[in-house]
This record gives sequence, C-alpha cells and structure tokens, in this order.
Amino acid sequence: SLYEFGMIGLGVMGRNLLLNMADHGFAVIGFDKDTEKAKALETSATAGTRVKGVVSLEEMVGQLQSPRRIMMLVPAGKPVDEVLESLRPLLAPGDIVIDGGNSHFTDTLRRVERMKAAGFHFMGVGVSGGEQGARTGPSIMPGGDKEAYDHVKPMLEAIAAKVNGEPCVAYLGKGAAGQYVKMVHNGIEYAIMQLISESYRLLKSAGLNNDQLHEVYKTWNAGEMQSFLLEITADIFLQPDDKSGQRLIDVILDKAGSKGTGKWTSQEAMDLAVPVTIIDTAVSMRSISAYKDERVQASKVYAEPKIPVPAETKLFIDQVKDALQFATVMCYAQGMAMLHTASEAHDMQIPLPEAVKVWRGGCIIRSALLGTFYEALKSAPEVPNLLLNKAVSEIVKSKEHNMRAVIVQAAQAGLPAAGFMAALSYFDAYRCEVLPTNMVQAQRDYFGAHTYQRIDMPGSFHTNWQHH
Ligand code: 6PG
Repeated sequence: SLYEFGMIGLGVMGRNLLLNMADHGFAVIGFDKDTEKAKALETSATAGTRVKGVVSLEEMVGQLQSPRRIMMLVPAGKPVDEVLESLRPLLAPGDIVIDGGNSHFTDTLRRVERMKAAGFHFMGVGVSGGEQGARTGPSIMPGGDKEAYDHVKPMLEAIAAKVNGEPCVAYLGKGAAGQYVKMVHNGIEYAIMQLISESYRLLKSAGLNNDQLHEVYKTWNAGEMQSFLLEITADIFLQPDDKSGQRLIDVILDKAGSKGTGKWTSQEAMDLAVPVTIIDTAVSMRSISAYKDERVQASKVYAEPKIPVPAETKLFIDQVKDALQFATVMCYAQGMAMLHTASEAHDMQIPLPEAVKVWRGGCIIRSALLGTFYEALKSAPEVPNLLLNKAVSEIVKSKEHNMRAVIVQAAQAGLPAAGFMAALSYFDAYRCEVLPTNMVQAQRDYFGAHTYQRIDMPGSFHTNWQHH
C-alpha cells in the first residue's frame, strides 16, 4: 500500500523529522541520492514503524498517496530550485510540496508562484530544534497556502513539541510567513547566543572556572530564566576533550560560523526601518570573530585596562544574571517588533500570539520568558512592542539597575560586551521621550535643504542657516 508522507533529503534533519512522523503512526518514505543515507533511514527507524528509504525520486513520488504530501529538507538556495525542477514533472495537480529548510522568504514567494501556476501547492515551513528536536518534537512554523496546511496539519501537530499538551505548530500567516517567522527566530537566536557568550566572558574574567561556570548557568536555568540555550551552555562547560585532556570549550577556536539567517534578519530589518540592534551586533560580532589574525595584532597594540572585574564575585554573578535577563528581553522585543511591522508591510497577517506560542517549546529560543510574552500578546495583540506591556516592563525595571552596573564594569575593564551595550542603548533610546535627532534634522537642512518639522506647528520647513 501507499505511503502517507514523503521526504526529500535525508540529512540529519530530514531523517529525524521523518522518523518522528513514523513514530506517530504515519507510513513514510524518504528519498536521498546517497545510498548510505537512504539505508540509514531504515536502520534507525523504530521497530514496528513503516519507513522506507529510496534512492530514486520517481520511486518515492510513485509510492505516495494522493494528494501527495512531500517535504524537502535540502540546503537553502540553489539545491531547493534544483529539487523542484526534477520534482515538478513527477507531480499531479493538487499535490503539496513543503520546503522545511531555512530558505530566504523572497525565494519562497517566487517558488509559491511558480508552483501555483503549475497547479501544485507549495508552502514554506520553518522548523527549529536541531537534530534532537526533529526526532522528538520540533517547533514548526508553517505559512502560506492555508488549504495545503490543512492537509498536513494532523502530521505536523503529531510530530511537534508539546507545551501544556498543545502542539508547537500553528498557521502563522500568508505568503512566506512561515520562513519569515523562522528567519526572525534565528535572528533572536543569534542575539541571545551572543549575549550568553558575553556573560560567559564577564564571569570568566571574574575568575570563575568551568566547574563554577557550569554551576552558575545551571542555577540560572533552574529559575525564571530557564531556557534551552542556558541549559546547553551549562552542559558545555563540563564537556571533556580527549585530544587535549582539557575541557573542550577551552580548545575551540573563537571564530564563529554562520549560514546567513541572522544576517538576513538584519538586512530585512534595515529595509523595514525596524531597529534590531542586538541582532545586528550579534551578526557583526560573528564577523569580527573571523578576523583572528588582526585581533591578535591589535591585542599587542592596545593593552587591556588594568581595572579588574569585579570587586565582589557573588554580587557580580547576580548582576550579570540580571543583565542577561534584561538584554534577553530586549532581543525578543526587537524580534517581535520586527514581526509586528513585517506582518503589515508584507501583508502576511502573522498572528503574533500564535508565533510566540509556537516558540514556547521545541525551538532553539524556547524559554520561560515566552510564556510571559504569550500572555502579554494574548491580552493585547496590537501592542507594537513588548516593552509597552506591563508585565514585561516590570521584568525590565527590576533588572535595569544591574544591567547598568554590568555595562559600567565591562567598559572599565575593557571587556567585549557589544551585545549587552546594544541592548541597553536600545532601551535608553526607546524609552527616551526626546532624542537629540533634532540636531540631525538641523544638519540635514543646513547642508542639503532636506527640511524639518517643528514641535510647535505643523508643516515642513527650510531655513537659510547662517555661517558664523
Ligand atoms: C534551529 C536553528 C537551525 C540552525 C541555524 C544555525 O532553529 O534549529 O536555527 O536552523 O542551527 O540556522 O545557523 P548558523 O549556522 O547561521 O549559526
């Protein structure tokens, strides 16, 4: 008999998602041109589940129920278009194709149109959670073709992570909303990872060793700051390395890789004129990390200030804890503000509370904070920025003092804390009734007659500025 769901690309994500589906009772078939991967799918399946791996796309398509439900998990960019080219002649009208990779949302929009013209459903779906999440319960962010979504909904709900019994999947809007929400998720992911790395550096400078660092992050993760990224951070400090006999973290080169989603978030935010400064900073810090040779040279030119951090370790740990929580709230606030604007600008109609709800479990940025944000957005979905919500403002206000204390100490000690600084700067600008941008307007009008508005009367003005 025929299979209910097909997967193209049996890398670790494709394989694990498909096996997860099989574990939930669906008969599944996967294709990969690599024989080893097709075999590995079958050998890693749970006994008693219906799983088949094939090396021919025709064979896979031929063994699927109609309308066919096919997901592809191949590297973003050209590979997605190549797969679609070879798939198209094999499909029948009404078939559903899902791109579960980190595709750029503009690529998704283009593919939706092309597939629609040929009579097929195509939808972009964000999937988060890494290897483990894919197998045991990812966070799933579908968007676009609603009719197609209804066809795959039972499967996606079955495999998704559950929070309070509710699946971490929901229809997130029109067009390329699925991949858009996933892109912003990744931007927030970059930003929070940058903040955690800075907090690690601050605590390390205060003299904490890996065992102590493990304890600190473990304790933080056990409280109101609970998050997946803190949990894995705590683990990382204990990982041994048999090659060096040291802790693995201490032999990992400080050059960060990236595959583009964080950068896309920043680029897109610039186009929308939405400030996502911590994400921008995180992208830039990954970039600066790559200039290892220059950093080594510069470290010889510019000595670190001789002001140690901190005066009192126990107090400092608490300050860094609050600073991290404060800055993390800013990351989510920036990301959600971006979605708020983008939803309208790209006509996606993203239900923001649903997006946050889907992020509560399974994904990389899942955290206890998202529960608070979900409640906040449910009661007032139209609020343009989480910082304007009362419950959120109370968290922020209670951490603000320690946030400032950490920045002062980091600046004095010359420690890199660009993410923390970006978070505080964003906050101080956002909560500022009057910014000094009147000066920018004056200068623009002075040198370029770009005009300005006034605070005391409507209209647009230009002045012949006097040179003194
Ligand atoms: C997820 C991750 C996942 C991937 C990142 C890594 O949500 O599961 O975001 O999609 O690990 O894209 O991105 P970089 O390689 O750019 O850090």
